[in-house]
Parts: sequence; C-alpha cells; structure tokens
Amino acid sequence: MNTTRDLQRLSAATALCLVFLSAPLAARADGAKKPAPTNPVWQEECGGCHVAYPPRFLPAESWKSMMGSLDRHFGTDASLDARAAATIEAFLVQNAKRSKTGQKADGSILRITETKWFRSEHDEISAAKWKSPAVGSAANCAACHPNAEKGSFRERDIKVP
Ligand code: HEC
Ligand code: HEC
Repeated sequence: MNTTRDLQRLSAATALCLVFLSAPLAARADGAKKPAPTNPVWQEECGGCHVAYPPRFLPAESWKSMMGSLDRHFGTDASLDARAAATIEAFLVQNAKRSKTGQKADGSILRITETKWFRSEHDEISAAKWKSPAVGSAANCAACHPNAEKGSFRERDIKVP
C-alpha cells in the first residue's frame, strides 16, 4: 500500500502551494498601511536632539558608519553605552533603505539631506527657505512635516512655514 506515501506527497504539495499563495498575499496585506517600524531605545536615544530619523531613509552601510562614530556626530558627542548602541544599530540596519537608485551604499553618506533621493524630492524648496528662521536646516524635518515625530511624512500633512 502506498497510501501513507501518497498522503505525505499530497500534504507536501499543499504546503508548497500555501507558501506560494501566502507570500504575495502577506505582502499586499502589509501594503502602505504598515506602521513605521519603531524601537523604544532608538526613539529615546536618537529622538532627543532631533526627530528620530526613520531607518528607511539611509542604507545599512550609512547607519553602520554613523553608529561607529557617535562620539563625532555632526559636531557633537552622541556616544552611547555599547548595549544601547548595538540595539539601535541592529534596528537601523534591519529597517534600512534597500538601494534601488544605484547610489553608492558605501557608508560615506551620513546625511539623509545629502542623498540624491532627498534632493530631488525637495528640489522646489529654495536655499533661502532652508535657511529661514522657521526651518533653520533641512535636517529639521518637523518644520514642514508636523508628523515626522511619528514617522509620517505623507504629502497631505506637509506644511511649509
Ligand atoms: C547630542 C545630540 C544628538 C543625539 C543624541 C543624536 N544626534 Fe543625530 N544629529 C545631531 C546634530 C546636532 C545633527 C546635525 C543637525 C543639522 O545639521 O541641522 C545631527 C544629525 C543627524 C543626522 C543627519 C541629518 C541630515 O542632515 O540628514 C542623522 C541621520 C542623525 N543625526 C542620526 C542620529 C542617530 C541614529 C542617533 C542615535 C544613535 C542620533 N542622531 C543622536 C545631534 C544628535
Ligand atoms: C522646508 C520644508 C521641508 C523640510 C525641512 C523637509 N521637507 Fe520633506 N518635503 C517637503 C515638501 C514641500 C515635500 C513635497 C515635495 C513634492 O512632492 O513636491 C516633501 C516631501 C517629502 C517626502 C515625500 C512625501 C510623499 O509622500 O511623497 C518625504 C519622505 C520627506 N519629504 C522626508 C523629509 C525628511 C526625512 C526631512 C528631514 C531630514 C524633510 N523631509 C525635511 C518639505 C520639507
């Protein structure tokens, strides 16, 4: 009798079908409504001096070099104890931008505001606007994206001061 083997084959085939079927379904269900990934240590330690910039705006290599030089962080010392730093780095790398733009992901770009993506997305904003007292710096995302703190940069929320 081959019944057992047939059954095994059948259930293996079913399982395989389910894998193929469920992958695209899961991706679609996640879709645009997926909440921005977050982590309490990151929020606390990287959200004190500026908004906690979402990991998806820089490639993993950039986050790694930034986390390796926190004592010289854009002219300030943002050092952390090793444990917090490791937690944050893992979170940033896991949710980093997967580069599709062909931009070199060698870690040499540390500023979101210096990426090609950022520049072209914001190309209608004048140099004077960036430096205006209400904005101060392109890095001050929340000046125009009031929900930046919550990880939201949606077009309909934008208010340029
Ligand atoms: C002690 C204050 C301080 C802390 C803590 C801090 N930063 Fe910063 N960060 C700064 C300053 C100052 C700048 C430069 C802002 C500017 O140019 O206007 C900056 C800039 C940045 C930028 C570049 C913004 C741009 O121009 O695109 C990134 C990315 C960044 N920080 C990530 C982090 C991460 C990740 C952490 C947590 C590990 C962190 N920061 C913690 C002070 C801090
Ligand atoms: C001076 C105001 C201003 C500042 C500061 C600013 N932005 Fe923007 N941002 C805009 C405007 C205006 C747009 C819409 C551009 C368009 O679509 O024409 C935009 C678009 C975006 C978009 C695309 C939104 C969408 O749904 O299409 C993202 C993401 C974004 N900005 C992120 C950032 C980040 C991250 C920072 C800080 C590092 C930042 N912005 C700083 C004004 C600003």
